[in-house]
Amino acid sequence: MTKRSSLPRGVAVVGAGMCKFGAFPEKSSRDLFVEAFQELVKSVDKGFDPLSIETVYVGNYSGELFEGQGHLAPLMVDAIGLTPRPAVRVEDACASGGVAFRQGVMAVASGMYDSVLVGGVEKMTNLPTAQVTDALGTAADTLFENPAGFTFPGFYAAIATAYMHKYGMTPQHLMKVTLKNHENGALNPKAQFNVSIPGWMKGRVDAAIKKGKPVPTWQTVWDFLQDDAANPMIAWPLRLFDCSPVTDGAAAVLLVPAERAHEYTDAPLYVIGTGQASDVALHSRADLTTLNAARAASLTAYEMAGVTANDIRIAEVHDCFTIAEVVASEDLGFFAPGDGFRMADEGVTSRLGPKPINTSGGLKSKGHPVGASGVAQIIEVWKQMRGEAGERQVPGGVPLALTHNVGATGTTCVVNIFERR
Ligand code: COA
Repeated sequence: MTKRSSLPRGVAVVGAGMCKFGAFPEKSSRDLFVEAFQELVKSVDKGFDPLSIETVYVGNYSGELFEGQGHLAPLMVDAIGLTPRPAVRVEDACASGGVAFRQGVMAVASGMYDSVLVGGVEKMTNLPTAQVTDALGTAADTLFENPAGFTFPGFYAAIATAYMHKYGMTPQHLMKVTLKNHENGALNPKAQFNVSIPGWMKGRVDAAIKKGKPVPTWQTVWDFLQDDAANPMIAWPLRLFDCSPVTDGAAAVLLVPAERAHEYTDAPLYVIGTGQASDVALHSRADLTTLNAARAASLTAYEMAGVTANDIRIAEVHDCFTIAEVVASEDLGFFAPGDGFRMADEGVTSRLGPKPINTSGGLKSKGHPVGASGVAQIIEVWKQMRGEAGERQVPGGVPLALTHNVGATGTTCVVNIFERR
């Protein structure tokens, strides 16, 4: 494999915005994208002329299946008043946003463009869950995996089962990831589920009292999370609260050459490493407990950045299911194989722990509009590294951060590393 060990020209993020994530029946993907773009424009500290943007990349998994609308990139460019700029839609399943970002980085790094908009958008809630499941399923190997009955919760259930068998993890360990990510998401006003598990329980109790229905008798979060009615099994051992939800959302960032970043802001984020890799479909893998593409992408990104896993202060990782976060924390080299669930259990990955993961609430709590998720991870890093994350701000500064975005079962993975100087 040929790869460069550094970018040919430095690249910086100088603006970032996202809409609130959730279910918005009254909005189209265009509305969501415009909201994200407007917030981005406001975020540029020293101001800028949006017409100076030269080209646009848009991560989108399947406008066709979710909205009956293909060819989204030029439509988004029109919606934000940027025609006739070139517009490219990037599709790599749930990694579409992170890969679109990488394309934008390469466009600036190559010297071809000095102002690049990277967005991501998905409008999923138009469809009922069964059809969403089918639409997402087209990202798997439809010749071999789908006819065998696999769905995405099923794939990750297989990963979880293999991991439990190999390392002795239990479903309760995965619930620690749920608890953490909802605790973080409760501090993120843009999150779809902007509520902690205790807050969720209280909401259910209050609603039951109000409606005169039987009041749940949960005493602890464990009672709630192990209650088959409140937290039903989706694909053993994964329950509802192990899954990311179906989400509408958009996010966008502005990229410029590093040497021009201070024209836009005194607090840019420098992109110092980027890596991407592919792998065979899940059914062909010898080991289900690790994603080879994540390992390869992170090694490339670390080498380019000249840093190690230990140097990374925070990471936004692709927790489409709780097990995915545990595996990611090992694939990225934060923890040894088989230690990821123990670290989550011990609070190492909590917001105030030594290695905070998914301070945004992750895909689990913030939501997972698949084409936008990889870009939204960068929004969290932008806020945390600039000290603008409000109540969920990680203490002590964030000089280095990483994003990890997975397509399907890890057939694609992209890792980006950011620095605040
Ligand atoms: N976590 C917690 N609660 C959830 C939830 C989730 N992921 N998804 C939905 N809910 C809640 C809803 O808010 C709703 O609560 P309410 O009754 O208090 O209003 C309730 O569960 C039912 O919502 P509904 O949308 O009808 O759920 P569903 O059973 O149709 O779908 C899943 C639940 C988990 C099957 C669906 O969210 C899913 O498929 N998620 C995975 C998406 C995916 O695969 N993404 C790609 C990953 S690679």
